[in-house]
Amino acid sequence: MIEFFNVTLSYKNEFLLKDITFKINKGDFVYLTGRSGVGKSSILKLIYFDEFPDSGNVTVNNFSSSQIMINEIPVLRRTIGVIFQDYKLLPDRNVFENVAFALRVTGAKSKEIRKKTVRVLTEVGMGHKRNQYPPQLSGGEQQLTAIARALINNPFVLLADEPTGNLDSRASNQIMNILEKINHRGTAVLMASHNLNIIKQYPHRRLNLENGAIKEV
Ligand SMILES: Nc1ncnc2c1ncn2[C@@H]1O[C@H](COP(=O)(O)OP(=O)(O)OP(=O)(O)O)[C@@H](O)[C@H]1O
Ligand SMILES: [Mg+2]
Repeated sequence: MIEFFNVTLSYKNEFLLKDITFKINKGDFVYLTGRSGVGKSSILKLIYFDEFPDSGNVTVNNFSSSQIMINEIPVLRRTIGVIFQDYKLLPDRNVFENVAFALRVTGAKSKEIRKKTVRVLTEVGMGHKRNQYPPQLSGGEQQLTAIARALINNPFVLLADEPTGNLDSRASNQIMNILEKINHRGTAVLMASHNLNIIKQYPHRRLNLENGAIKEV
């Protein structure tokens, strides 16, 4: 479902990733580790086709980085949920609208939008805060909202870039419990993380990135 084959990526003539090959299968939970600046976020960008390899190939379901057409990229992205370290919520829209927005752009009917949005907000424990605005929320609550937004289109994979990066251990555990639950329901999770405590506490397959190469550890 996600396959990197001999992927090389460089910025300004400097190699970041060299001949990276790995696979993530349906329903996997995989950590992506490695020191800051090693290229973890870049790997996630390659998966949602925000970045393209200099050579090699990234395949995501039926799409391949060497063949995808520009107008197919939004179609692919609707099948992938992404959460960012800095949440990227719209500050002038409330929790409900931040999540519903991802469905509105698909042209869904308002009754369906309401039903799905309430369901996914309830699932992450944010139903009662649906009328609040992001600046009124804690970091953990903003991340829960971002998870709800990522799940609204029922993605086959959730890409989580340091989802616990700015959170204390209680909020981090809450996020991890939700990621585990989502994974048990069949959604694959690829999570970039520095947090070895969390990784120890919630053991899963781990890919470590070092000097442009990836190793299963
Ligand atoms: N669009 C870009 N143009 C030029 N350089 C870039 C670009 N995107 C990333 N880089 C560089 O590539 C390197 C890897 O960045 P990346 O964000 O993938 O690292 P990371 O492993 O996610 O780091 P962190 O743990 O700090 O989030 C960095 O040195 C960064 O400056
Ligand atoms: Mg990063």
